[in-house]
This record gives sequence, structure tokens and C-alpha cells, in this order.
Amino acid sequence: MLPADSGLKIEAGESRGQSAGAEAGEGDGGRVCYVNGGLVPEAEARISILDHALLYGDGVFDTVIAWDGRLFRLDDHIDRLFRSMAAVAIPTPVSREELRDLTIRAVRANKLDNAYVKWIVTRGSNDTPLMDPAGCAANLIILVRPYIHRYAPDSRSGLRLKTAAIRRPPGQVLSPQIKSLNYLNLVLAKIEAKSAQADEALLLDIHGRVCEAPGYNVFVASRGTLLTPQHDILEGITRASVMEIAAQQAVPLRICDVELYDAYAAEEVFLTSTAGGLVPVVEVDGRVIGEGRPGPLFARFSKAYQEMIASPDWGTAVHGEQKN
Ligand SMILES: Cc1ncc(COP(=O)(O)O)c(C=O)c1O
Repeated sequence: MLPADSGLKIEAGESRGQSAGAEAGEGDGGRVCYVNGGLVPEAEARISILDHALLYGDGVFDTVIAWDGRLFRLDDHIDRLFRSMAAVAIPTPVSREELRDLTIRAVRANKLDNAYVKWIVTRGSNDTPLMDPAGCAANLIILVRPYIHRYAPDSRSGLRLKTAAIRRPPGQVLSPQIKSLNYLNLVLAKIEAKSAQADEALLLDIHGRVCEAPGYNVFVASRGTLLTPQHDILEGITRASVMEIAAQQAVPLRICDVELYDAYAAEEVFLTSTAGGLVPVVEVDGRVIGEGRPGPLFARFSKAYQEMIASPDWGTAVHGEQKN
């Protein structure tokens, strides 16, 4: 049996009350996840088909990683998840401290040192398929997977980006700061890029300025200065880490409007995200960036970032040592 007593009081609800104790079943790779009050084998986790997350994309999420047995910048991610819930008026299903504890227990139950952890908070259901959120009670899911390597830090290659025709919506339409369960805009950009045989999409804002890649922030090294877009982006936590590394290493950095020209003519371009870390870009719309391979600035920043995620200064211990 896995440690499963959440210590939380869970109200009655259509998708609540899942088994509080769990043993990993077949077909789920031995993984367990947290759903509304208990750890369950991933294959047995359930939420209602009337949940507004399924019907309307009505919910929020955040992703955090564990590295070497420590959750990196856990409180920064918890704060952002709570800001997303506040912005969409979802009453918090657990407190910050409860989420901290549940997350640690979920990673521990999966016996992982390096993990990908996703919190999903759904609006819940009010027993009708209608959009009105009145009467819904939020559901919390904590999904834990082994860390997913998107890019080997010592790779000699990088991504080829293609600018997508679809644009990132401005804050007046839907704030990019909300990590909502509707990422269709980014999925469509990805489809466009893949259909053009590129590795990943580059999204512009509605004014044609460089904005984001799907699930990534963008950095462009231009004439010795790192540039990163200022408008209509999610303020990524990895982006914040890169800014801290730039300050430590006295690399000039500007948060500003970034034009496609800046990317095309850049010495280096790289992307940042919690799940992927720092990912180099070697081509944008057929223009070779720099020498066509990961550059020296990327190598420096990638090394510093790897040190940061492994550092006890930034991590919350999962397996017993003192929490920071
Ligand atoms: C739209 C978007 N932009 C950027 C990022 C990168 O943010 P972070 O570094 O906090 O993971 C994400 C992360 O998932 C995202 O969803």
C-alpha cells in the first residue's frame, strides 16, 4: 500500500471520494497520481465527463519538476497556480501548504528523484452540461511522471522554428499569465510548424512581434545583449531563472519588443520552460542562427541552469531531508 492519507477534508462531489489508498495497477507503469483526496493508480484516476474542464477547457494548471530529489522553485510554481485560480475565480481546493505536502507525497509515492509534476485544477461540475460555473466544486489532480528529456544538454544540434500564421492572443482577449486548460492556440501553432517540417512553432503577438513558442519563452542574443519579449507572454519561471543567471554573469539583458529581424539576425536563440529547461534554436524560418549549432552563451546558461536546478538553495526536498 502507498502512503495515501491526505489529511484533507474532501466534500462530497460527483468525481470525489476516490480510493484514499492505492496500489499501482497494471497498464499504468506502476505510477500513481493524486485525485481529490487520495493517491490512486494512474489508470484508475477518474473525473466526471460533466467537468467544465472537459466541456469548456475551464480550469488551470502548472508544471513543476523534481531534480535530484528536490522540487525546483516549488513555491514560485504554487504562487503562480494560485494566481491562475484567482484570475479565473476558481475557489482553491487546498491551501498552499496542503499542495506542498501533497506534491511531495505524490513524488515520493512514485519513487522518483527526477520527475515531471503537473497540477491540474478543474472547475468541476454542477451536474449540467451548461457553461455557468455556479455550483461547481473544483477538482485537484497531481500527475507525476518520470522527468521527460526533451533535449540532451550536450547535444550538438537544436530546434528549427517556423513562424506560425496564428498569433498569440493579447491580454485583452485572454491573459497569457493564466495557465489555463485551453492551449488550443498553441496546439494549432504546433500543428502548423510540424506540417511545414519544422521542429517547433514561433508565435508572434497580434502586432507581429516575437512572443513565445508553444509552452516556452524566447531569448534572442543580439549584438551581445539577451533580449526577451515583454508583451502578451506568460512570465515563465525558467525565464526568471535565466534573468538571474544573466545578472550573476553580468550578461546584458533587455525585456523589450523583439522583432522577427532580431531573431533572424541573432547570434543565438534559445527557448525556456520548466519541463524542457533551456533549448537551443539553430534555425528560424530557414535562416541559420549563428553557426547553426548551440552557441557559447547557450552553453554557459545551460550549465548554470543545470547547477541551479540541482542546488539545495532552490529546491524542496522530496525524500526526507530538511525542506527549504
Ligand atoms: C504559454 C507558456 N509560455 C511559457 C512557458 C514557460 O514557463 P515556465 O518556464 O514557467 O515553465 C509555459 C510553461 O508551461 C507556457 O505554458
